[in-house]
Amino acid sequence: MSDVTQIPHRNIEKSDSTLNRMTPPALEVSGISKSFSHRRRETEVLHKVSLQVEPQEFVSIVGPSGCGKSTLFHIIGGLESPDAGTISMNGKIVTGQRGKISYMPQQPALFPWRTIEDNVLLASEITGEIRDQAREEARHWLAKVGLTGFERSYPHMLSGGMQQRAAFLRALLAPQELMLLDEPFSALDALTRSEMQRWLLELWEENRRSVLFITHNIEEALLLSNRIYVFSGRPGSILHTIDIPFPRPRREEITDSPEFIRLKRQLSQWMREEQAKRALT
Ligand SMILES: Nc1ncnc2c1ncn2[C@@H]1O[C@H](COP(=O)(O)OP(=O)(O)OP(=O)(O)O)[C@@H](O)[C@H]1O
Ligand SMILES: [Mg+2]
Repeated sequence: MSDVTQIPHRNIEKSDSTLNRMTPPALEVSGISKSFSHRRRETEVLHKVSLQVEPQEFVSIVGPSGCGKSTLFHIIGGLESPDAGTISMNGKIVTGQRGKISYMPQQPALFPWRTIEDNVLLASEITGEIRDQAREEARHWLAKVGLTGFERSYPHMLSGGMQQRAAFLRALLAPQELMLLDEPFSALDALTRSEMQRWLLELWEENRRSVLFITHNIEEALLLSNRIYVFSGRPGSILHTIDIPFPRPRREEITDSPEFIRLKRQLSQWMREEQAKRALT
């Protein structure tokens, strides 16, 4: 799984995001607030959240369960509308618009009536790409994530982790430049998870896309990201923003460095403090 193949249809110049100051952010979330009402009670889930993903940046969100991370993704993807605030992509306001992002939801959400290969092919079908070529590409990627032999299977015939890998591929092969990944590796065992992280890291470094990534795994966020936003408990707001200094290409060895260990401690402490606050309320 370690060799890296360029994703066709994308021809992105590799460059440091700091060189791209003139380019508008791939994603700009400005002042997003959202409440849900349940049995006549309003619960605020997100409070004035503002964040950015520059072109070709890998940005992560970590925060306690229930703090509105997935809700924020639904708002960015146009599936929910915010009570306040705007979503912009490449300098244009797109609040409420669908189809602008490649999205892997927290639950794999594969179509049960389609085979694994046809699920992975969904994005290219929508864009009307030539079928044979797309099918060949899908097979190639299915092999890379260890799903050879399951192309013609239906989702219910796969384990949760295998479904997650197929859903991840579907997002990866979608043509949109901005990818939102909601805990893409949560159903995988530790070994497969670390393989997928390494694979995603290499893939992303070879062929950069703009990524917003939700994870509960601090080490994963540190290994992959340019920047991490730490969310508070509900209503979710941004408590800390931390830029991750490690040069690229990154390899797993950085996890042993004193700076990595220091950042991991700091993030774990912030997360513990948030959990403790929640326990008191
Ligand atoms: N459509 C909805 N209607 C009512 N309440 C909702 C809706 N969607 C989310 N919520 C509530 O909003 C809160 C935040 O949910 P969300 O799924 O965004 O959290 P999260 O940060 O992704 O949590 P986790 O880390 O567990 O995935 C929860 O209390 C949830 O019950
Ligand atoms: Mg969630």
